[in-house]
Amino acid sequence: MALRPLVAGNWKMNGTRSALKELVAMGEGYDAALRAKVDLMICPPAPLLFTAAAAALGSRIAIGGQDCHTAASGAYTGEISAEMLADAGATAVILGHSERRQYFRETDALVAEKAAAAHRAGLVAIICVGETQAEREAGKTLAVVGRQVARSIPEGATPETVVVAYEPVWAIGTGLTPTTADVAEVHALIRRKLVSRHGKQAAGIRILYGGSVKPSNAKELMSVPNVDGALVGGASLKAADFLAIAAAY
Ligand code: G3P
Repeated sequence: MALRPLVAGNWKMNGTRSALKELVAMGEGYDAALRAKVDLMICPPAPLLFTAAAAALGSRIAIGGQDCHTAASGAYTGEISAEMLADAGATAVILGHSERRQYFRETDALVAEKAAAAHRAGLVAIICVGETQAEREAGKTLAVVGRQVARSIPEGATPETVVVAYEPVWAIGTGLTPTTADVAEVHALIRRKLVSRHGKQAAGIRILYGGSVKPSNAKELMSVPNVDGALVGGASLKAADFLAIAAAY
């Protein structure tokens, strides 16, 4: 089944208000032809969310957060709840990105809890999984990704509530990408796990590929079976690159 693709941009900790001109340019370039074939989303740093949502209004580019807390509100200094993201105009949130798993010691269980919190707030959870270089070299890729998919995605996931992003850690920001055969193998595994745990409707859950996606490799990566879009880091900071990736569909 060919799913409607989603190309999402993760700005990470990049961008101040001046970066919103790129978002405006993306909106201008997201014309009827592109809108007919692909969904676009930008996930800016939290301080930009509200302004980004206003800047994207009318362009149909969705806005997402990059993380959320498990609670709706409370004494958690420095944290941001899913409700707050939704209130600022986000419709989705990236969870379990490898940078959060690595630098903030996020576990599969915590990611699943955050995803449940996102769902309570009405947000789509974009749940990231992916192996490190050492795990790949040790032949553990499928075991690691399989475990992450099984444990990081809460019960009752549907195509409306969950997007999965496969991001091999060693491919993030390095310019390296797996072969299309490797991507196909991992995405097929993710699809099987989703369907066996969440039922037939999980065939409609979008599985994005992320890790050094750029205009020059987007077409090849996006033609792989079960790759239903991309989660783009560096190349999502510039409207021209992001739109060129979207146009690869
Ligand atoms: O979430 C997207 C990301 O981790 C990929 O980053 O810069 O390799 O496209 P990049």
